[in-house]
Amino acid sequence: MAKKKDKTQGLALGLTNYGDTDFSIYLRKSFAKSMGYSDEMLAKPIVGIAYTASGFNNCHRHFPEMLDAVKRGVLAAGALPLEFPTISLGEVFLSPTSLKFRNLMSMDTEEMIRAQPMDAVVLLGGCDKTVPAQLMGAASANKPAIQIVAGPMMTSRHGEERLGACTDCRRFWGRYRAGEVDEREINEIEGRLATTAGTCAVMGTASTMACIAEALGMSLPGTAAIPAVHADRLRAAEATGAVAVRLAAKPITPNRIITRASVENALRILLALGGSTNAIIHLTAIAGRLGIDIPLTWLNELSDTTPVLVNLKPVGTHYMEDFFAAGGLGAVLRELKPKLNLDCLTVTGQTLGERFESEPGYVDRTVIASIAEPLESEGGLVALFGSLAPEGAILKRSAADKSLFEKEGRAVVFSSLDDLATRIDDPDLDISAEDFLVLQNAGPKSPSGMPEAGYLPIPKKLAAQGIKDMVRISDARMSGTAFGTIVLHVSPEAAIGGPLSLVHTGDRIRLSVKNRRIDLLADDRELERRRDQRQKDCPDVPVRRGYDRLYAEQVLQANEGCDFAFLKAVT
Ligand code: FES
Repeated sequence: MAKKKDKTQGLALGLTNYGDTDFSIYLRKSFAKSMGYSDEMLAKPIVGIAYTASGFNNCHRHFPEMLDAVKRGVLAAGALPLEFPTISLGEVFLSPTSLKFRNLMSMDTEEMIRAQPMDAVVLLGGCDKTVPAQLMGAASANKPAIQIVAGPMMTSRHGEERLGACTDCRRFWGRYRAGEVDEREINEIEGRLATTAGTCAVMGTASTMACIAEALGMSLPGTAAIPAVHADRLRAAEATGAVAVRLAAKPITPNRIITRASVENALRILLALGGSTNAIIHLTAIAGRLGIDIPLTWLNELSDTTPVLVNLKPVGTHYMEDFFAAGGLGAVLRELKPKLNLDCLTVTGQTLGERFESEPGYVDRTVIASIAEPLESEGGLVALFGSLAPEGAILKRSAADKSLFEKEGRAVVFSSLDDLATRIDDPDLDISAEDFLVLQNAGPKSPSGMPEAGYLPIPKKLAAQGIKDMVRISDARMSGTAFGTIVLHVSPEAAIGGPLSLVHTGDRIRLSVKNRRIDLLADDRELERRRDQRQKDCPDVPVRRGYDRLYAEQVLQANEGCDFAFLKAVT
């Protein structure tokens, strides 16, 4: 007969069902003992560690070392750390695009947190889609959880220039396409863009999501921007393990941390950072897991009253390691303090307001501007609505050419990514710098799964003339490290018959950032005719299977976070 156990924690949680509780505990313990654990260790609370090291994820290269540090923190605080693998998403190693697998990773994370015996969980992620997936999963599982991120890469050198993935990847590729950089030099640069462990070195999606996790209160204060290879990153991992033990003892569940008020704080941070356009999709999906909607009109309201404060690539000139040295996210939060909801609870048990009392006040103004003298008076992102995007589209105005903000142009349409690849560099392409490039069928329900293809290349013949930016419109996304006057996430998307699908080359489109509008200037009757024609011309939809089919059937539009409909909170 097994001895009496504490059935409210650790190994006794979530028992395998054999119809006899004591037998289930006895059997589980006997198998756990096969891993060499003592009775004393097996009687402790358990902190699970969602572990995402992978040979296909360069950004998580240092995770074995971080895992050791998290475990050290858990053990020293009196609990048993047990890591478990989940899917890992290495941004550039996934086809057709990592976003397609974010929801799969979130399901993996949610179910493994729920199904395995743990009192709290540490989420160890970093590369673009991993942190949103982990936060989505943890929000749905609603067990005490704390996020620790990989941290950004360090920069490298090419001659006198600093290089950091991946804004400089695009900058040099653009120069190569324009003939300004030759084959030998682009090969040299290829080996210098990403040279350490960690996530992209600029305020791309990974760094934006790291800051959002901290702003939401889901990770420890001051940890978002610590470089991946800095010793502080390991100390942060150790401290995260210790706090996870506190969370196990005095549970604070994600639904008490991720609230409408903390989501508003996170949106303000996104806008003040001039952060990644992807982050609005991810934050919408995370909040949606707890029944919190983020209408794009809310984004615009906040954008009107949140200045851009951070001078980082791709919008500005500095890199994440400079941001860390300049005061990091704490300095930005302090600037925004009058606009933030200070009573939001965080994983430490303190409120956001209490955080400010214990922090030093250092800030380097060359990287982080004051609210009195911001870099831009309005937020980095703006949502556009109009006849081309009835449910909204996103423009990262802080990374765009303002001279293109109030403009009407002739559409030059590419019907798919294949069409774009085939024709964009055709010397006979009828195009001028005044035209608007339009890409269709690259949204979430398209076979391409909404890739980061919205950063349409400038046609080679225009690039060779020195054209650096044009208005580009699509239902795709763009990398957080990209820049340009790029209208993204057009909803509803072309693949489900949104107005974007009706645009023909030669149509006129009007962009007005001032009025938050993007309009297709076409006659209603003509559009109706095209809609009928489109339905007649529609090819048979290919039969899809497995996860691909689940994705196609369930994925929501960009303005709803591209989550699966059945994963949203039941309200
Ligand atoms: Fe992992 Fe950029 S490739 S963050």
